[in-house]
Amino acid sequence: MTSLHEQQRPLSGPEKINGNFRGKDILSMDQFDTRSLNLLFDVTRNMREIAVNAEPCDVLKGKQAVLLFYEPSSRTRGSFDAAMKQLGGQTIVIEDPQHFSSVAKGETLEDTIRTFEAYSDLIVLRHDKTGSLQKAADIAESVPLVNAGDGGQGEHPTQGLLDLYTINQHTERLDNLTGVIAGDLLMGRTVKSLIRGLALYPGNRLFLLSPEKIRLPREDFEEFSRRGVELTEIDNTEDIPPDTDFWYWTRVQKERYLDNLEEYEEVKNRFVVNQELLDRYAGEKTILMHPLPRVGEITEEVDKDKRAVYLESQIRNGMYVRMALLSLVLGKI
Ligand code: NCD
Repeated sequence: MTSLHEQQRPLSGPEKINGNFRGKDILSMDQFDTRSLNLLFDVTRNMREIAVNAEPCDVLKGKQAVLLFYEPSSRTRGSFDAAMKQLGGQTIVIEDPQHFSSVAKGETLEDTIRTFEAYSDLIVLRHDKTGSLQKAADIAESVPLVNAGDGGQGEHPTQGLLDLYTINQHTERLDNLTGVIAGDLLMGRTVKSLIRGLALYPGNRLFLLSPEKIRLPREDFEEFSRRGVELTEIDNTEDIPPDTDFWYWTRVQKERYLDNLEEYEEVKNRFVVNQELLDRYAGEKTILMHPLPRVGEITEEVDKDKRAVYLESQIRNGMYVRMALLSLVLGKI
């Protein structure tokens, strides 16, 4: 974003937020520091009031966001759309561009981004190929670009932000936490952003529960450990420590294993949360999270448990956090 984009962006990655979101691309949790997260979460609490009380608010009046999704989405796209509209802004939603835009005729990502940049104040992009988000941000010179999912091995920073907000809401801190992160740690992008966020705070210990074949990539494991998160890999539910602060379950990303469906069948739903598992290893105050969609990793009987927040606060917080982020990036507050 901005014509100075190239000069402003340090070699180490996208521009840091440093307490000022205005006009910046949101590509990675690595752009954030604790001060910027505090600011975002303060605004999020105000946004929650606006949404819950249906208070009229027009901080995004006259602003247009393009939601360009090359992969399916319910919550991310829906909450960005709702967030813009709650604040008086508008959206152009391009679903399945591979079939319903000129991408179907062979148009490049470059030309598609240039086109939608001309119609909007901000682009929210989800893409199936890791690395496309940085590429698109380099192309979009006049509007900020927000990462809504960058393939299987990239990030999903706005999910990470709402996950951190949700943990903080329930535990009242983001440091000295103990958590279990389970499922597809190889291809799951939400966990990559969440762990980066937790690494900004001291004393966090995470138990990574996954079949060995889909454990966290080694370079991520080493990098996150170097940043100070204590990571312990486990591959058996019996090794879940009792009474941790949160459980974060994820699905195995079937669409990323299409050339190896046998392997998918082998690892899917290896670890299922049912009432028995929850009662056995979780504490009274442990919260159970999931970015959704779930496809069997949490049984429906668990939904009514008061520790299950995935269908309640976690979904709702997605909209509040995105309302705050859009307001801060589009610079009207
Ligand atoms: C996740 C995603 O798309 O990465 N969903 C989401 O955005 N809430 C997780 C998933 O698809 O499994």
